[in-house]
Amino acid sequence: MRILSPQDASLAVLIVKDIAHAAGLGGLKISALTTAVSELTTNVVKYAEHGLLTVQVLERKQLRGIEVIVEDRGPGIADIPLAMEDHVSTGGTLGLGLPGTKRMVDEFEIQSTLGLGTSVRIVKWS
Ligand SMILES: Nc1ncnc2c1ncn2[C@@H]1O[C@H](COP(=O)(O)OP(=O)(O)OP(=O)(O)O)[C@@H](O)[C@H]1O
Ligand SMILES: [Mg+2]
Repeated sequence: MRILSPQDASLAVLIVKDIAHAAGLGGLKISALTTAVSELTTNVVKYAEHGLLTVQVLERKQLRGIEVIVEDRGPGIADIPLAMEDHVSTGGTLGLGLPGTKRMVDEFEIQSTLGLGTSVRIVKWS
């Protein structure tokens, strides 16, 4: 789905929540995943104006995973290791979105190129 507004960010949370529930994730894991999705989509609206979210159910042995990719063609991040530190923000807020997201999920990958955009892939396993 396209992420163009704070309303889209909220809708994305509800959609991911439903998919994760249907895939059999427990309440705590769903909360962690949806908090992560909220952080990433909020960043898109705040820093890149718009972006794209895709969600997919993965299967590995008995486990199911929810993979969410949030990508944009915004300004990109100059220094990813710095942006991943706690309390680093260019937006005047807490600067906990990206590091918090990483702590809340099982897999976290970020790619970003200045001037080209940013892509974050997260997975939460059941
Ligand atoms: N999609 C993005 N495009 C461009 N820059 C980004 C993007 N996401 C994050 N950043 C940069 O990385 C910094 C850290 O992001 P993070 O989400 O951790 O903190 P924040 O958004 O500033 O504050 P918080 O999420 O706590 O409200 C941001 O301040 C911004 O400079
Ligand atoms: Mg943020």
